[in-house]
Amino acid sequence: MIELKSVSKSYQMGDDTIHALDGVDLVVKDGDFLAITGPSGSGKSTLANIIGGLDEPDGGKVLVNEQDISKLDDKTLSNYRNHEIGFVFQTFNLQPTYTALENVMIPLIFAGISSAERKKRAAECLKAVGLADRMAHLPSQLSGGQRQRVCIARALANNPKVIIADEPTGNLDSKKGEEIVGILKELNRQGKITIIVITHDPSVARQAHRVINIKDGRIS
Ligand SMILES: Nc1ncnc2c1ncn2[C@@H]1O[C@H](COP(=O)(O)OP(=O)(O)O)[C@@H](O)[C@H]1O
Ligand SMILES: [Mg+2]
Repeated sequence: MIELKSVSKSYQMGDDTIHALDGVDLVVKDGDFLAITGPSGSGKSTLANIIGGLDEPDGGKVLVNEQDISKLDDKTLSNYRNHEIGFVFQTFNLQPTYTALENVMIPLIFAGISSAERKKRAAECLKAVGLADRMAHLPSQLSGGQRQRVCIARALANNPKVIIADEPTGNLDSKKGEEIVGILKELNRQGKITIIVITHDPSVARQAHRVINIKDGRIS
């Protein structure tokens, strides 16, 4: 379970203070499928990054299984980021010179897993997203929807409990977007993975168990 208690984050831009998050309280239970919607600039990515331990709040707390993550030492925090959470971004961030299989193997290198085991695990993850027949393709040889599926496979590599997807369908047409949401839904239903999806798209949000709307850094 992930719990945010009056989480705030601001940025100083010259004389202006931007309150990206302004006292956010949120509980995400294990197995939840939560959608976060809201206008551009409302604080959605800031929230996603704080939940995932990529960014730190300057006020309030993030508790993961009742542990305050700001109190974790570097090693435990990086373990949380790499093993508990899988990230999927709007812009795919794939390595262009690596095949789909090699891209999915990257997080496993950092986890110190042997080469044979990495290949096996990466292939399983690509199978889970329906790309068994595209493992040797480079990102440039894949469609946008297929690239995003590689990203989901990469996020799955370390067996995370939670997937945070920040506008995963933002660069896709609606049919491809639906496929991506279908995969997330299946991972939630069958794999019992908690899904947090940030989206502008009402048809994506409709698939979630729960939708929260954020405006000017507050849950509305
Ligand atoms: N690194 C940063 N430096 C300064 N301002 C930032 C930074 N990151 C985000 N912001 C500002 O914080 C607000 C929330 O941004 P963000 O969380 O990216 O919103 P969203 O994902 O909803 O579009 C915006 O006003 C944005 O300009
Ligand atoms: Mg954003």
